Amino acid sequence: MDYLQIEGGNRLSGSVRISGAKNAALPLIASSILAKNPISISNLPNVKDIQTLLRLLDNLGASYSLDGNRVDIDTSTIDSTTAVYDIVRTMRASILVLGPLLSRFGHCEVSLPGGCAIGQRPIDLHLKALKQMGAQISIRSGYVVAQAPSGLKGSTIIFDKVTVTGTENIVMAAALARGKTTIVNAAKEPEVVQLCEVLNRSGVQIEGIGSDELVIHGSDGELLPMEDIEVIPDRIEAGTYLCAGAITGSKITLREVIPQHLEAVLLKLMQMGFPLQSDDSSITIEPAKRIEPVEIVTSEYPGFPTDMQAQFMSLALLAEGTSIIEERLFENRFMHVSELRRFGADIQLKGNIATIIGPTKLFGADVMATDLRASSALVLAGLAAQGTTNVHRIYHLDRGYEKIEEKLGALGAKIKRMRE
Ligand code: EPZ
Repeated sequence: MDYLQIEGGNRLSGSVRISGAKNAALPLIASSILAKNPISISNLPNVKDIQTLLRLLDNLGASYSLDGNRVDIDTSTIDSTTAVYDIVRTMRASILVLGPLLSRFGHCEVSLPGGCAIGQRPIDLHLKALKQMGAQISIRSGYVVAQAPSGLKGSTIIFDKVTVTGTENIVMAAALARGKTTIVNAAKEPEVVQLCEVLNRSGVQIEGIGSDELVIHGSDGELLPMEDIEVIPDRIEAGTYLCAGAITGSKITLREVIPQHLEAVLLKLMQMGFPLQSDDSSITIEPAKRIEPVEIVTSEYPGFPTDMQAQFMSLALLAEGTSIIEERLFENRFMHVSELRRFGADIQLKGNIATIIGPTKLFGADVMATDLRASSALVLAGLAAQGTTNVHRIYHLDRGYEKIEEKLGALGAKIKRMRE
Protein backbone atom coordinates (compact mmCIF):
# COMPACT_ATOMS: atom_id res chain seq x y z
CA MET A 1 0.00 0.00 0.00
CA ASP A 2 1.16 3.58 -0.67
CA TYR A 3 1.94 6.16 1.96
CA LEU A 4 2.80 9.84 1.82
CA GLN A 5 6.10 11.06 3.28
CA ILE A 6 6.13 14.73 4.26
CA GLU A 7 9.02 16.89 5.47
CA GLY A 8 7.22 19.56 7.49
CA GLY A 9 7.98 23.20 8.19
CA ASN A 10 8.02 24.42 4.58
CA ARG A 11 6.34 27.62 3.48
CA LEU A 12 4.04 27.24 0.48
CA SER A 13 3.61 29.73 -2.35
CA GLY A 14 1.99 30.12 -5.74
CA SER A 15 -1.42 28.97 -6.90
CA VAL A 16 -3.37 25.72 -7.21
CA ARG A 17 -6.26 24.81 -9.53
CA ILE A 18 -9.25 23.29 -7.75
CA SER A 19 -10.69 20.14 -9.35
CA GLY A 20 -14.33 19.33 -10.03
CA ALA A 21 -16.41 18.32 -7.01
CA LYS A 22 -16.54 14.57 -6.31
CA ASN A 23 -19.87 15.00 -4.48
CA ALA A 24 -21.39 16.81 -7.45
CA ALA A 25 -19.98 14.40 -10.03
CA LEU A 26 -21.39 11.29 -8.32
CA PRO A 27 -25.11 12.22 -8.53
CA LEU A 28 -24.56 13.68 -12.03
CA ILE A 29 -23.08 10.36 -13.20
CA ALA A 30 -26.06 8.55 -11.64
CA SER A 31 -28.45 10.94 -13.43
CA SER A 32 -27.20 9.59 -16.78
CA ILE A 33 -29.55 6.65 -16.07
CA LEU A 34 -32.42 9.11 -16.67
CA ALA A 35 -31.08 10.29 -20.03
CA LYS A 36 -32.64 9.60 -23.42
CA ASN A 37 -29.25 10.22 -25.08
CA PRO A 38 -25.57 9.66 -24.32
CA ILE A 39 -24.15 12.48 -22.15
CA SER A 40 -20.72 14.02 -21.62
CA ILE A 41 -19.59 15.17 -18.18
CA SER A 42 -16.46 17.33 -18.01
CA ASN A 43 -14.30 18.70 -15.16
CA LEU A 44 -14.59 15.33 -13.41
CA PRO A 45 -12.07 14.86 -10.60
CA ASN A 46 -9.83 11.93 -11.43
CA VAL A 47 -10.39 10.12 -8.10
CA LYS A 48 -11.22 6.59 -7.03
CA ASP A 49 -14.89 7.18 -6.13
CA ILE A 50 -15.65 8.38 -9.66
CA GLN A 51 -13.99 5.33 -11.18
CA THR A 52 -15.99 3.10 -8.80
CA LEU A 53 -19.35 4.56 -9.83
CA LEU A 54 -18.46 4.30 -13.52
CA ARG A 55 -17.49 0.66 -12.91
CA LEU A 56 -20.91 0.15 -11.35
CA LEU A 57 -22.68 1.62 -14.41
CA ASP A 58 -20.54 -0.63 -16.61
CA ASN A 59 -21.61 -3.59 -14.47
CA LEU A 60 -25.25 -2.65 -15.16
CA GLY A 61 -24.55 -2.77 -18.90
CA ALA A 62 -24.05 0.94 -19.59
CA SER A 63 -21.05 1.97 -21.64
CA TYR A 64 -18.68 4.84 -20.95
CA SER A 65 -15.38 6.21 -22.12
CA LEU A 66 -13.30 8.14 -19.61
CA ASP A 67 -10.66 10.47 -21.01
CA GLY A 68 -8.83 12.27 -18.17
CA ASN A 69 -11.41 14.59 -16.65
CA ARG A 70 -14.18 13.94 -19.13
CA VAL A 71 -16.53 10.98 -19.48
CA ASP A 72 -19.05 10.06 -22.18
CA ILE A 73 -21.80 7.79 -20.84
CA ASP A 74 -24.43 5.84 -22.77
CA THR A 75 -26.98 4.14 -20.52
CA SER A 76 -29.23 2.93 -23.35
CA THR A 77 -27.47 -0.45 -23.13
CA ILE A 78 -28.26 -1.09 -19.43
CA ASP A 79 -29.45 -4.70 -19.16
CA SER A 80 -29.30 -5.24 -15.41
CA THR A 81 -30.68 -3.34 -12.45
CA THR A 82 -28.65 -5.08 -9.76
CA ALA A 83 -25.94 -2.98 -8.11
CA VAL A 84 -23.69 -5.68 -6.71
CA TYR A 85 -22.25 -5.88 -3.20
CA ASP A 86 -18.59 -5.98 -4.16
CA ILE A 87 -18.84 -2.58 -5.86
CA VAL A 88 -21.32 -0.89 -3.52
CA ARG A 89 -19.35 -1.90 -0.41
CA THR A 90 -16.35 0.09 -1.68
CA MET A 91 -18.37 3.27 -2.01
CA ARG A 92 -21.61 3.91 -0.18
CA ALA A 93 -22.57 6.74 -2.55
CA SER A 94 -23.40 3.93 -5.01
CA ILE A 95 -26.81 4.18 -3.37
CA LEU A 96 -27.36 7.08 -5.76
CA VAL A 97 -28.33 4.62 -8.51
CA LEU A 98 -31.35 3.45 -6.50
CA GLY A 99 -33.69 6.34 -7.36
CA PRO A 100 -32.81 6.56 -11.08
CA LEU A 101 -32.89 2.76 -11.67
CA LEU A 102 -36.23 2.39 -9.90
CA SER A 103 -37.87 5.30 -11.70
CA ARG A 104 -36.59 4.24 -15.13
CA PHE A 105 -36.99 0.44 -14.94
CA GLY A 106 -39.63 -0.04 -12.24
CA HIS A 107 -37.40 -2.47 -10.32
CA CYS A 108 -33.87 -2.75 -8.98
CA GLU A 109 -31.73 -4.47 -6.39
CA VAL A 110 -29.05 -2.37 -4.75
CA SER A 111 -26.71 -3.79 -2.15
CA LEU A 112 -27.12 -2.06 1.19
CA PRO A 113 -24.15 0.29 1.58
CA GLY A 114 -22.20 -0.68 4.67
CA GLY A 115 -21.71 1.94 7.32
CA CYS A 116 -18.29 3.45 7.23
CA ALA A 117 -15.68 4.70 9.66
CA ILE A 118 -17.54 7.93 10.40
CA GLY A 119 -20.85 6.39 11.33
CA GLN A 120 -23.78 4.06 10.65
CA ARG A 121 -24.91 6.14 7.68
CA PRO A 122 -28.35 4.53 7.34
CA ILE A 123 -30.51 5.01 4.25
CA ASP A 124 -33.86 4.70 6.02
CA LEU A 125 -34.94 8.15 4.83
CA HIS A 126 -34.22 7.27 1.20
CA LEU A 127 -36.33 4.10 1.47
CA LYS A 128 -39.19 5.73 3.38
CA ALA A 129 -39.49 8.39 0.68
CA LEU A 130 -39.50 5.87 -2.17
CA LYS A 131 -42.21 3.86 -0.39
CA GLN A 132 -44.26 7.05 -0.17
CA MET A 133 -43.86 7.34 -3.96
CA GLY A 134 -45.45 3.93 -4.36
CA ALA A 135 -42.43 1.62 -4.34
CA GLN A 136 -42.50 -1.77 -2.62
CA ILE A 137 -39.21 -2.03 -0.75
CA SER A 138 -37.79 -5.06 1.05
CA ILE A 139 -34.36 -6.03 2.35
CA ARG A 140 -33.21 -9.45 1.17
CA SER A 141 -29.75 -10.95 1.81
CA GLY A 142 -28.17 -7.54 2.22
CA TYR A 143 -29.87 -6.02 -0.80
CA VAL A 144 -32.54 -3.35 -1.09
CA VAL A 145 -35.13 -4.93 -3.42
CA ALA A 146 -37.32 -2.19 -4.87
CA GLN A 147 -40.34 -2.62 -7.14
CA ALA A 148 -42.58 -0.02 -8.74
CA PRO A 149 -44.16 -1.91 -11.67
CA SER A 150 -46.53 0.90 -12.58
CA GLY A 151 -43.87 3.55 -12.04
CA LEU A 152 -43.42 5.98 -9.16
CA LYS A 153 -46.00 8.60 -8.33
CA GLY A 154 -45.37 12.10 -7.06
CA SER A 155 -45.84 12.61 -3.32
CA THR A 156 -45.02 15.06 -0.54
CA ILE A 157 -41.84 13.91 1.20
CA ILE A 158 -40.85 15.39 4.54
CA PHE A 159 -37.27 14.43 5.46
CA ASP A 160 -36.92 14.04 9.24
CA LYS A 161 -33.23 14.86 8.80
CA VAL A 162 -31.51 16.80 6.04
CA THR A 163 -29.86 14.19 3.83
CA VAL A 164 -27.71 15.12 0.83
CA THR A 165 -27.79 11.84 -1.11
CA GLY A 166 -31.32 11.22 0.15
CA THR A 167 -32.45 14.47 -1.48
CA GLU A 168 -30.49 13.64 -4.64
CA ASN A 169 -31.99 10.13 -4.84
CA ILE A 170 -35.55 11.42 -4.50
CA VAL A 171 -35.02 14.31 -6.93
CA MET A 172 -33.86 11.77 -9.53
CA ALA A 173 -36.70 9.35 -8.71
CA ALA A 174 -39.23 12.21 -8.94
CA ALA A 175 -37.80 13.34 -12.31
CA LEU A 176 -39.41 10.37 -14.09
CA ALA A 177 -42.36 9.91 -11.71
CA ARG A 178 -45.98 10.57 -12.54
CA GLY A 179 -47.09 13.97 -11.19
CA LYS A 180 -45.61 16.38 -8.68
CA THR A 181 -43.22 15.58 -5.82
CA THR A 182 -42.60 18.08 -3.04
CA ILE A 183 -39.54 17.57 -0.86
CA VAL A 184 -39.70 19.41 2.46
CA ASN A 185 -36.45 19.84 4.47
CA ALA A 186 -34.40 19.17 1.33
CA ALA A 187 -30.59 19.51 1.38
CA LYS A 188 -29.33 22.77 -0.19
CA GLU A 189 -25.67 21.87 -0.82
CA PRO A 190 -24.24 23.30 -4.10
CA GLU A 191 -23.94 19.72 -5.33
CA VAL A 192 -27.70 19.23 -4.89
CA VAL A 193 -28.31 22.56 -6.64
CA GLN A 194 -26.22 21.56 -9.66
CA LEU A 195 -28.12 18.26 -10.01
CA CYS A 196 -31.44 20.16 -9.90
CA GLU A 197 -30.21 22.74 -12.43
CA VAL A 198 -29.06 20.01 -14.84
CA LEU A 199 -32.40 18.18 -14.58
CA ASN A 200 -34.31 21.46 -14.90
CA ARG A 201 -32.43 22.21 -18.13
CA SER A 202 -33.30 18.69 -19.30
CA GLY A 203 -37.00 19.44 -19.20
CA VAL A 204 -37.89 18.48 -15.62
CA GLN A 205 -39.61 21.50 -14.12
CA ILE A 206 -38.15 22.00 -10.63
CA GLU A 207 -39.15 24.88 -8.36
CA GLY A 208 -37.32 26.04 -5.21
CA ILE A 209 -33.81 25.11 -6.41
CA GLY A 210 -31.36 26.14 -3.69
CA SER A 211 -34.07 26.22 -1.04
CA ASP A 212 -35.11 23.57 1.48
CA GLU A 213 -38.39 22.95 -0.35
CA LEU A 214 -38.21 21.46 -3.85
CA VAL A 215 -41.16 20.83 -6.18
CA ILE A 216 -40.39 18.41 -9.01
CA HIS A 217 -42.86 17.86 -11.88
CA GLY A 218 -42.12 14.35 -13.18
CA SER A 219 -41.96 13.32 -16.85
CA ASP A 220 -44.21 10.28 -16.26
CA GLY A 221 -41.61 7.82 -17.46
CA GLU A 222 -40.31 9.88 -20.40
CA LEU A 223 -36.47 9.69 -20.53
CA LEU A 224 -34.76 13.09 -20.44
CA PRO A 225 -32.98 14.88 -23.28
CA MET A 226 -29.85 15.72 -21.24
CA GLU A 227 -27.16 18.14 -22.32
CA ASP A 228 -23.43 18.07 -21.64
CA ILE A 229 -22.46 18.89 -18.05
CA GLU A 230 -19.47 20.64 -16.48
CA VAL A 231 -18.98 19.72 -12.82
CA ILE A 232 -18.74 22.61 -10.34
CA PRO A 233 -15.47 23.10 -8.40
CA ASP A 234 -14.92 21.13 -5.20
CA ARG A 235 -15.60 23.41 -2.23
CA ILE A 236 -14.13 20.88 0.22
CA GLU A 237 -10.92 20.44 -1.75
CA ALA A 238 -10.75 24.26 -1.85
CA GLY A 239 -11.24 24.52 1.92
CA THR A 240 -8.56 21.89 2.45
CA TYR A 241 -5.99 23.85 0.39
CA LEU A 242 -6.86 27.06 2.23
CA CYS A 243 -6.08 25.20 5.45
CA ALA A 244 -2.78 24.04 3.91
CA GLY A 245 -1.86 27.69 3.30
CA ALA A 246 -3.06 28.69 6.77
CA ILE A 247 -1.29 25.93 8.72
CA THR A 248 2.07 26.63 7.00
CA GLY A 249 1.82 30.43 7.37
CA SER A 250 1.83 30.88 3.59
CA LYS A 251 0.29 33.11 0.95
CA ILE A 252 -1.35 30.95 -1.73
CA THR A 253 -4.07 31.43 -4.33
CA LEU A 254 -6.80 28.97 -5.32
CA ARG A 255 -7.98 29.16 -8.94
CA GLU A 256 -11.24 27.93 -10.52
CA VAL A 257 -13.17 28.00 -7.27
CA ILE A 258 -16.60 29.43 -6.35
CA PRO A 259 -16.04 31.44 -3.14
CA GLN A 260 -19.70 31.67 -2.14
CA HIS A 261 -19.83 27.84 -1.96
CA LEU A 262 -17.52 27.96 1.06
CA GLU A 263 -18.63 31.15 2.81
CA ALA A 264 -18.84 29.52 6.28
CA VAL A 265 -15.28 28.22 5.88
CA LEU A 266 -13.97 31.62 4.75
CA LEU A 267 -15.66 33.32 7.70
CA LYS A 268 -14.02 30.94 10.19
CA LEU A 269 -10.60 31.46 8.60
CA MET A 270 -11.05 35.24 8.86
CA GLN A 271 -12.17 34.90 12.48
CA MET A 272 -8.94 32.94 13.13
CA GLY A 273 -6.97 35.90 11.78
CA PHE A 274 -6.21 34.88 8.18
CA PRO A 275 -6.55 37.73 5.64
CA LEU A 276 -8.50 36.58 2.55
CA GLN A 277 -9.15 38.20 -0.82
CA SER A 278 -11.42 36.68 -3.42
CA ASP A 279 -12.98 37.43 -6.78
CA ASP A 280 -15.59 35.35 -8.63
CA SER A 281 -13.21 32.46 -9.36
CA SER A 282 -10.22 32.71 -7.02
CA ILE A 283 -9.35 33.04 -3.34
CA THR A 284 -6.02 34.19 -1.85
CA ILE A 285 -5.09 33.50 1.77
CA GLU A 286 -2.24 35.16 3.67
CA PRO A 287 -0.54 34.32 6.97
CA ALA A 288 -2.24 35.34 10.20
CA LYS A 289 -0.31 37.70 12.48
CA ARG A 290 -1.73 35.68 15.37
CA ILE A 291 -3.89 32.57 14.95
CA GLU A 292 -7.00 33.00 17.11
CA PRO A 293 -8.81 29.95 18.58
CA VAL A 294 -12.11 29.02 16.94
CA GLU A 295 -15.54 27.62 17.87
CA ILE A 296 -17.13 25.38 15.24
CA VAL A 297 -20.44 23.53 15.13
CA THR A 298 -20.88 21.48 11.96
CA SER A 299 -24.23 21.71 10.23
CA GLU A 300 -25.91 21.34 6.88
CA TYR A 301 -25.21 23.84 4.09
CA PRO A 302 -24.85 26.82 4.25
CA GLY A 303 -23.52 26.13 7.78
CA PHE A 304 -20.00 24.93 8.52
CA PRO A 305 -19.46 21.69 6.57
CA THR A 306 -18.74 18.47 8.47
CA ASP A 307 -16.33 17.59 5.64
CA MET A 308 -14.08 20.46 6.81
CA GLN A 309 -14.17 19.59 10.52
CA ALA A 310 -11.02 17.45 10.64
CA GLN A 311 -8.97 19.94 8.62
CA PHE A 312 -9.90 22.78 11.00
CA MET A 313 -8.99 20.64 13.98
CA SER A 314 -5.45 20.38 12.60
CA LEU A 315 -5.33 24.13 12.06
CA ALA A 316 -6.69 24.79 15.58
CA LEU A 317 -3.62 23.02 17.02
CA LEU A 318 -1.62 26.17 16.16
CA ALA A 319 -4.16 28.65 17.60
CA GLU A 320 -3.17 30.78 20.62
CA GLY A 321 -5.83 29.40 22.95
CA THR A 322 -8.57 26.80 23.32
CA SER A 323 -10.81 25.87 20.36
CA ILE A 324 -14.07 23.94 20.51
CA ILE A 325 -15.39 21.77 17.67
CA GLU A 326 -18.81 20.13 17.86
CA GLU A 327 -19.65 17.46 15.25
CA ARG A 328 -23.41 17.38 14.81
CA LEU A 329 -23.87 15.28 11.66
CA PHE A 330 -21.97 12.06 12.24
CA GLU A 331 -21.65 10.04 15.41
CA ASN A 332 -18.06 8.95 14.94
CA ARG A 333 -16.18 11.58 13.01
CA PHE A 334 -13.29 12.15 15.42
CA MET A 335 -11.02 9.28 14.36
CA HIS A 336 -8.35 11.81 13.41
CA VAL A 337 -8.04 12.88 17.09
CA SER A 338 -5.99 9.87 18.20
CA GLU A 339 -3.76 10.28 15.14
CA LEU A 340 -3.30 14.03 15.75
CA ARG A 341 -2.24 13.22 19.33
CA ARG A 342 0.72 11.36 17.81
CA PHE A 343 1.98 14.74 16.55
CA GLY A 344 1.77 16.05 20.13
CA ALA A 345 -1.75 17.49 19.99
CA ASP A 346 -3.62 18.15 23.25
CA ILE A 347 -7.26 17.38 22.43
CA GLN A 348 -9.96 16.34 24.87
CA LEU A 349 -13.08 14.52 23.66
CA LYS A 350 -16.43 14.54 25.42
CA GLY A 351 -19.17 12.95 23.31
CA ASN A 352 -19.35 14.87 20.05
CA ILE A 353 -17.38 17.86 21.34
CA ALA A 354 -13.61 18.19 20.93
CA THR A 355 -11.59 20.73 22.94
CA ILE A 356 -8.30 21.62 21.31
CA ILE A 357 -5.63 23.29 23.46
CA GLY A 358 -3.25 25.44 21.45
CA PRO A 359 -0.69 26.39 20.49
CA THR A 360 1.06 23.05 20.15
CA LYS A 361 4.51 22.41 18.74
CA LEU A 362 3.91 19.56 16.28
CA PHE A 363 6.49 16.84 15.67
CA GLY A 364 6.38 14.57 12.61
CA ALA A 365 5.09 11.04 13.21
CA ASP A 366 3.85 7.87 11.56
CA VAL A 367 0.06 8.17 11.37
CA MET A 368 -2.78 6.24 9.79
CA ALA A 369 -5.62 7.60 7.71
CA THR A 370 -9.07 6.35 8.72
CA ASP A 371 -11.44 8.15 6.37
CA LEU A 372 -11.24 10.60 3.50
CA ARG A 373 -11.29 13.93 5.31
CA ALA A 374 -9.40 12.71 8.38
CA SER A 375 -6.59 11.73 6.01
CA SER A 376 -6.34 15.27 4.67
CA ALA A 377 -6.18 16.58 8.26
CA LEU A 378 -3.15 14.36 8.89
CA VAL A 379 -1.43 15.66 5.76
CA LEU A 380 -2.07 19.23 6.95
CA ALA A 381 -0.55 18.49 10.37
CA GLY A 382 2.43 16.88 8.62
CA LEU A 383 2.99 20.04 6.57
CA ALA A 384 3.24 22.07 9.80
CA ALA A 385 5.10 19.54 11.97
CA GLN A 386 8.84 19.62 12.53
CA GLY A 387 10.50 16.58 10.92
CA THR A 388 9.15 13.70 8.89
CA THR A 389 5.55 12.47 8.81
CA ASN A 390 4.39 9.28 7.11
CA VAL A 391 0.65 9.11 6.42
CA HIS A 392 -0.34 5.47 5.88
CA ARG A 393 -3.47 3.97 4.22
CA ILE A 394 -3.80 6.87 1.82
CA TYR A 395 -6.22 4.91 -0.32
CA HIS A 396 -8.73 6.90 1.75
CA LEU A 397 -7.26 10.13 0.37
CA ASP A 398 -7.21 8.87 -3.20
CA ARG A 399 -10.99 8.50 -3.07
CA GLY A 400 -11.55 12.24 -3.01
CA TYR A 401 -8.40 14.30 -3.61
CA GLU A 402 -7.02 14.47 -7.15
CA LYS A 403 -3.21 14.44 -7.40
CA ILE A 404 -2.79 15.75 -3.85
CA GLU A 405 0.97 15.26 -3.70
CA GLU A 406 1.48 16.88 -7.11
CA LYS A 407 -0.66 19.86 -6.17
CA LEU A 408 0.99 20.32 -2.76
CA GLY A 409 4.44 19.70 -4.25
CA ALA A 410 3.83 22.40 -6.85
CA LEU A 411 3.04 24.78 -3.97
CA GLY A 412 6.44 23.99 -2.42
CA ALA A 413 5.59 21.22 0.04
CA LYS A 414 8.16 18.46 0.50
CA ILE A 415 5.86 15.49 -0.06
CA LYS A 416 6.22 12.22 -1.95
CA ARG A 417 4.26 9.03 -2.46
CA MET A 418 6.12 5.96 -1.23
CA ARG A 419 5.35 2.28 -1.42
CA GLU A 420 5.05 0.33 1.90
C1 EPZ B 1 -23.05 13.37 1.88
O1 EPZ B 1 -23.15 12.10 2.49
C2 EPZ B 1 -21.61 13.50 1.43
N1 EPZ B 1 -21.31 12.44 0.46
C3 EPZ B 1 -20.67 13.37 2.64
O2 EPZ B 1 -19.35 13.59 2.17
C4 EPZ B 1 -21.03 14.48 3.62
O3 EPZ B 1 -20.23 14.34 4.77
C5 EPZ B 1 -22.51 14.37 4.01
O4 EPZ B 1 -23.33 14.42 2.82
C6 EPZ B 1 -22.96 15.50 4.92
O5 EPZ B 1 -22.73 16.74 4.29
C7 EPZ B 1 -21.74 12.59 -0.83
O6 EPZ B 1 -22.37 13.58 -1.19
C8 EPZ B 1 -21.39 11.49 -1.77
P1 EPZ B 1 -26.38 12.62 4.68
P2 EPZ B 1 -24.61 11.50 2.81
O7 EPZ B 1 -27.36 11.65 4.14
O8 EPZ B 1 -25.60 11.96 1.83
C9 EPZ B 1 -28.26 10.75 8.57
C10 EPZ B 1 -17.09 13.10 1.87
O9 EPZ B 1 -16.19 13.24 2.68
N2 EPZ B 1 -29.11 9.97 7.67
O10 EPZ B 1 -26.55 14.07 4.37
O11 EPZ B 1 -24.43 10.05 3.03
C11 EPZ B 1 -26.80 10.35 8.47
O12 EPZ B 1 -26.51 9.23 9.29
C12 EPZ B 1 -18.41 12.51 2.31
O13 EPZ B 1 -17.04 13.45 0.67
C13 EPZ B 1 -30.07 9.12 8.22
O14 EPZ B 1 -30.20 9.00 9.43
O15 EPZ B 1 -24.93 12.19 4.21
C14 EPZ B 1 -26.10 11.60 8.94
O16 EPZ B 1 -26.09 11.60 10.36
C15 EPZ B 1 -18.31 11.95 3.71
N3 EPZ B 1 -30.86 8.39 7.38
C16 EPZ B 1 -27.00 12.73 8.45
O17 EPZ B 1 -28.28 12.12 8.17
C17 EPZ B 1 -30.76 8.48 6.01
O18 EPZ B 1 -31.53 7.82 5.30
C18 EPZ B 1 -26.51 13.40 7.18
O19 EPZ B 1 -26.26 12.37 6.24
C19 EPZ B 1 -29.78 9.34 5.48
C20 EPZ B 1 -28.97 10.09 6.32
